[in-house]
Amino acid sequence: MNEITYAPIRVEWAEQLAEIEHTVFSSIGTEDLLSYEDIVGYCKVFPEGGFVALDGDKPIGFGVGLLLDFNFEDAYHSLDDLTGTAGGGDHNPEGDWYYGVTIAVNPEYRKRGIGHQLYELRKEAVRKLGKKGIVAGGVIPGYSEHLDTMSADEYIDKVVSGDLYDPTLSFQLQNGFEARGAIPDYLDDPTVGNNAVLIVWENPDYRG
Ligand SMILES: CC(C)(COP(=O)(O)OP(=O)(O)OC[C@H]1O[C@@H](n2cnc3c(N)ncnc32)[C@H](O)[C@@H]1OP(=O)(O)O)[C@@H](O)C(=O)NCCC(=O)NCCS
Repeated sequence: MNEITYAPIRVEWAEQLAEIEHTVFSSIGTEDLLSYEDIVGYCKVFPEGGFVALDGDKPIGFGVGLLLDFNFEDAYHSLDDLTGTAGGGDHNPEGDWYYGVTIAVNPEYRKRGIGHQLYELRKEAVRKLGKKGIVAGGVIPGYSEHLDTMSADEYIDKVVSGDLYDPTLSFQLQNGFEARGAIPDYLDDPTVGNNAVLIVWENPDYRG
């Protein structure tokens, strides 16, 4: 295996990135996943907000997002509400927050720090652009095993306290995110009752 390198997102990788997205989020309805066209859209409207991890010249992980004004008073939203139906269509360069649309790493390359590095690049972009931080609807795949015994909020509290481990939320918490409650009907994923979790990272360098 080559050393993993990182690069700003480029249209030429869009097809391989869409394939990673669909492999990684196999329990989520296709309409909630990024298509080739969506990824091309993100490359066009906000290339400085997207990053790709490469093994040689093969993409093995990526993250994209857009800028928007996030209303914490009305934080329940679906993925489409915020990101628009076409890739990056609702990007607003003046927006205060970076909204994380996806971070996905090829399963064969996990637990080597690639996801962490993609977050570091995202945080660096937020600092450079002088934005308030990162907000996202995070998936909670581990909730599928507890769907019948506890609410999504109870599950999230147990992951935050360390009583339960979630393959994605535990990773987000390790990367400095705060969990601010379940978002019902966020996306079409019956294995987790369509729930996600609102996660927030505040930029410590933000000066208003
Ligand atoms: C979540 C995801 C992006 C993490 O990617 P990753 O490359 O495995 O991330 P990292 O390697 O940085 O960290 C994952 C774990 O491996 C650990 N790790 C990192 N380097 C390691 C190493 N060299 N040896 C052992 N463990 C290591 C990390 O501490 C972390 O542990 P944690 O889960 O207890 O927090 C990946 O699992 C994924 O694509 N999941 C499906 C999609 C998804 O849920 N995306 C988030 C969208 S909301």
